[in-house]
Amino acid sequence: MRVFAVANQKGGVGKTTTAINLAACLAEMGHATLLVDLDPQANATSGLGFIPNAGESVYSVLLGRKTVEQQVRPTAYARLALLPSELNVAGCEIEMAQNDEFRGRLYQLLRSLPVVFPHEFIFLDCPPSLGIVMTTAIASADAVLVPLQCEYFALEGLTRVFQILQELGNPRENPPSRLFGVIMTMFDVRTNLSQQVVEDVRRHLGPLVFDTVIPRSVRLAEAPSYGKPIIAYDTAGTAAQAYRKLAREFLVRVQKKTITTPPSGYSKGVSQPTYG
Ligand SMILES: Nc1ncnc2c1ncn2[C@@H]1O[C@H](COP(=O)(O)OP(=O)(O)OP(=O)(O)O)[C@@H](O)[C@H]1O
Ligand SMILES: [Mg+2]
Repeated sequence: MRVFAVANQKGGVGKTTTAINLAACLAEMGHATLLVDLDPQANATSGLGFIPNAGESVYSVLLGRKTVEQQVRPTAYARLALLPSELNVAGCEIEMAQNDEFRGRLYQLLRSLPVVFPHEFIFLDCPPSLGIVMTTAIASADAVLVPLQCEYFALEGLTRVFQILQELGNPRENPPSRLFGVIMTMFDVRTNLSQQVVEDVRRHLGPLVFDTVIPRSVRLAEAPSYGKPIIAYDTAGTAAQAYRKLAREFLVRVQKKTITTPPSGYSKGVSQPTYG
């Protein structure tokens, strides 16, 4: 089992779209995959056709009110399961911020899952804010995937992720070894800008950047409103093909890279973001 946080401090860069569609493509290819929606916006939950319900989410598990068996949902797609979020979790975030045990709980929850649900891959869809949820998800995952939108300042989204990983690991490690890869999203073939941004990011990050680039696609933006991954909504379209290609590349990269589970989700501690 390998746990990947899908994170970027910037909003709207394609985290949820990538988490849903990479997970769905891996499931289609035969790999049991669990998507954990850690975002209070619950976009991954609704994007897979579920209505986010109060008290029925990963948060009730983390707060010790429900068991994971009660909360994991099989989806309409073979080998793809969801641990949903719920909309009313603003309160949960405050509760978690006050609850030191929470960080350890997410780590332990993820490590205890294989006993009940033998998934090969787990993806954590993170919220965009610099809050405790993203930090904890990164600290609890084996590795981190960062989607970057093909626009100016794309690299800005990496700053906090880099910082958290360096604080958890070796501060001099650049790039941090637990940064698994960067995925360029919303590539617009009609503009030079997309091409320039991809070149720029590749110059900075080299082989960390996936070869597969996700194109901008109206179908991809429409799919969540039907509660479907792109491979179910527009199975032969270019976006579906791009995510299938990404999944194949992901599997090759997983085989090549040694991914070691961090010894404990939070033993070293990470500086908490300051608000306001
Ligand atoms: N390749 C794409 N082409 C067109 N639209 C896309 C693409 N990827 C994502 N979108 C759309 O862009 C918006 C933002 O995408 P998404 O929700 O995946 O980003 P996010 O990083 O998860 O956002 P947030 O930070 O709010 O969680 C959504 O409306 C989504 O449908
Ligand atoms: Mg999202």
